[in-house]
Order: sequence, then C-alpha cells, then structure tokens
Amino acid sequence: MSSKIDVVLGLQWGDEGKGKIVDVLAGRYPAVARFQGGPNAGHSLHFDGKSFVVRSIPSGIFREGSVNIIGNGVVFDPVTFREECSQIEKLGVTPKDKVLISKKAHLILPTHRLLDAASEAAAGRGKIGSTLKGIGPTYTDKIARHGLRVGDILAPDFKERFEKLKARHIQMINDLHYECDPSKDEAAWMDAIEFVKQFKLVDCEYFVNSWLESKPMLAEGAQGSMLDVDYGSYPFVTSSSTTIGGVCTGLGVAPSRVGKVYGIFKAYCTRVGSGPFPTELFDETGERLRQIGHEYGAVTGRPRRCGWLDLVALRYTVMLNGVTDLIMMKSDCLDDFDSIKVCTSYKVDGKETKELPYDISAPIEPVYTEFKGWKRDLTGVRDENELPKEFEEYIKFMESYLGVPISIISLGPDRDATIER
Ligand code: IMO
Ligand code: MG
Repeated sequence: MSSKIDVVLGLQWGDEGKGKIVDVLAGRYPAVARFQGGPNAGHSLHFDGKSFVVRSIPSGIFREGSVNIIGNGVVFDPVTFREECSQIEKLGVTPKDKVLISKKAHLILPTHRLLDAASEAAAGRGKIGSTLKGIGPTYTDKIARHGLRVGDILAPDFKERFEKLKARHIQMINDLHYECDPSKDEAAWMDAIEFVKQFKLVDCEYFVNSWLESKPMLAEGAQGSMLDVDYGSYPFVTSSSTTIGGVCTGLGVAPSRVGKVYGIFKAYCTRVGSGPFPTELFDETGERLRQIGHEYGAVTGRPRRCGWLDLVALRYTVMLNGVTDLIMMKSDCLDDFDSIKVCTSYKVDGKETKELPYDISAPIEPVYTEFKGWKRDLTGVRDENELPKEFEEYIKFMESYLGVPISIISLGPDRDATIER
C-alpha cells in the first residue's frame, strides 16, 4: 500500500504559524519536506521551554527519528544552512543524521544577495520589501537556466562555474550602480560548501517517491499563498510557487500522491514588506494586534503590518489550494477585544464582490461583519467543549463562509497549546 504526502501551507501573506503546526504534526509524520522558498522563511518553534527559528531546514528537525528533506524547489544558502545547523546542534540534535538535501535545489550565491539589494535599491519606491536573502535573483537564474545547483558542488569544474556566474552577477550589479565588494562573503560561502558535502545529497524525487511506497510524509510550505508568484499580489510577491502546485514541482511527486491539504491562517492578517493589503489597519487596533501578537519579523525583525481577517482573500487561497482542513492560529490574541471584525466582501468601484480583483492595489473598501468578543483568556483551554459560545459562533461562521472545517485551533505558541477537533 502506498502512502500520501500531506501538505501544510500558509493561506495569507506568510507568518501564519507554519513552524509550530509542522512541529506539532511532525510527531505523526516520520518525514517532513520543504518544497519551495529558502532562508526568507522563518518558522518559529516553541517546545519544552525552548524557542527556535528554522530557515531552510524543515520544522520536523526536533522530532526524534525524523527525516527532513530540503527539496529541489528550494533555493539553498549554504552559509545560512551552516549557521542553522550549529544552532540546532547546541540543542543536542545532529542535523547531519536527519537532513537530506536535493541535488537539484539551486544555490544562493553571495552575489545573489547583493543583486537582491542592488535591485531593491534601484527600485526606489517600487521596492518589494524583500528579505534580501537572494531569493528573487536565484530563482531568476534558475528560470533563465544559468543557475548552479547543490549537485554541482561535487563537479570538478564547480569553481569555474561559480566564477562564471559571479562575473555575470558583477556585471549586473555594476549596471545597477550599486556599490559593494562582490568577494566579501565568498570565503565563508566556499567554506560552507565544504560543510554541506558531509550531508546526504539526494535525488529527491526518487527518495520521496520510494518513501511514499510505505510511509507518509508532510510537505511544509514557506511564505503564504498571497505571496505566490502567480496568484499573489504581483509584483509584491516572492519568486516561488507557494501554492499547492509547488509541492509537485518542488519535490517531484504527482498530484495523485497528495493527501490532506492543511491550510493555515491567523485569526487576523499580517504582512511584511510592501504591497497591497486591503484590510490593513493604520489605527490603534492595528498597533494593538501587533503588540499582542508580537508581530515582528522572525527573519528581519521588521514590524509587521496588521489588519482584520480577510475572508475574501482567504476563500480565494482555500480554492487555489484545494484545502481539506483549516488550521486557525492566534485567535487567543483576540481574547481581549470587545468586538472582532472579519472582511466578508470588497467594494470596488461602488460594487460589492466576494472575488479577488485582478489588481488589489486599486482602491478596495473592505466590508466587515462584526462579532461579539468572547472576552475570556483562551490560552489554557485544551478541550473544545470549554470554548465560549461567542467563539463557537465565530468559528461556525468562518467554516460556512469558507466551506472547509477548521480542524485545528492553536491557542498559544507552545506545542501543547493546540486543540484538535
Ligand atoms: P515565512 O515562511 C512573510 C515577503 C517579504 C517581501 C516578499 C518578497 O516565514 O512565512 P523575498 O525575500 O521572498 O524576495 O521577499 O515576500 N516574505 C515573507 N513574508 N513570511 C515569509 O516567510 C516571507 N518570505 C518572504 O517580506 O514582502
Ligand atoms: Mg516568517
């Protein structure tokens, strides 16, 4: 009997709490795989009084006996990876025994990062607000067929190929009139490449498919569906397919192999970086959400923009991903609110719609439905039957609007603060 690959992916603009949920679910999946993105991700885990942020390594890493795969859809920075490994080792886990890297994952060079910075600087007010980890330039090289892949580090002419790509990048950086020292981080990068050679570099597609012959796997999305290169708020997006199709291309699995699709969302919305955000709040409610939810970037420390939950956008991403199970995060952050709003339609050019317009940068007036707050501390609740009736009504409304059950409710950052329904 063959098994399925279940998927956890973010339904908003990232930072939904994927790390925590993958860590919780990883107890049931002997293997976890990242299929896209790179160290622009920052997935926070909290367990046994410890906290940790993973970047490229799947969030299953702290589960005993887990296998953690960095798939070919990922862009891989050896320097960040090495740092991440040494932090993990401090917690008594040996990544070398538990992490596999796809040979077909593309390498982020030091000059990719510089190019990221150069193009953001040149974009002025139109900048994306990138995490500056070199994500966009690396995927650009992949699609343009100039990229270097993890498997190439074993080739005898690796250094020459590196130099060739670097020279190309330097040309582009000069064209953008960006001042920097292109060789600055090269020695550390080459050192990190040697470090990576100790790991199992695999043909991920063979590994994943043969694993699925007998055991299940969990795919861990990074970023969120509203940052998807095709369906997100383009051009203010990341450069990968964060939606369900990314699982197939990023790991080499067929759609028929995909089982459950867990879609994860916060009970409100956040966004880091530039780009449209219809329900953004610029008032003290927004600031209150930021403070209560500790909404500061796990990677960059930037304050996150905050706003009410946007069900129009959420229903769109539920549809795109064929979500089978919803996971709601951080509703405990709303415990103190007298009333809670959710956006249930948009007013565009005076007309009301429940569909996402082509250009969400154009003026949109969110139309809200208001709910009475439950005004109770829910962080200690572990039994579904102890949830207040106001909370139940709020959940019921969302399930009916979205047409998918909310199977997991998270009421705090810790592994244990989770209710399964
Ligand atoms: P996790 O996995 C939130 C945002 C950046 C920027 C845009 C493009 O932790 O949810 P990039 O560096 O990818 O070129 O930046 O995407 N962004 C994220 N926002 N969470 C993330 O990851 C993100 N990764 C990228 O802020 O607006
Ligand atoms: Mg994050």
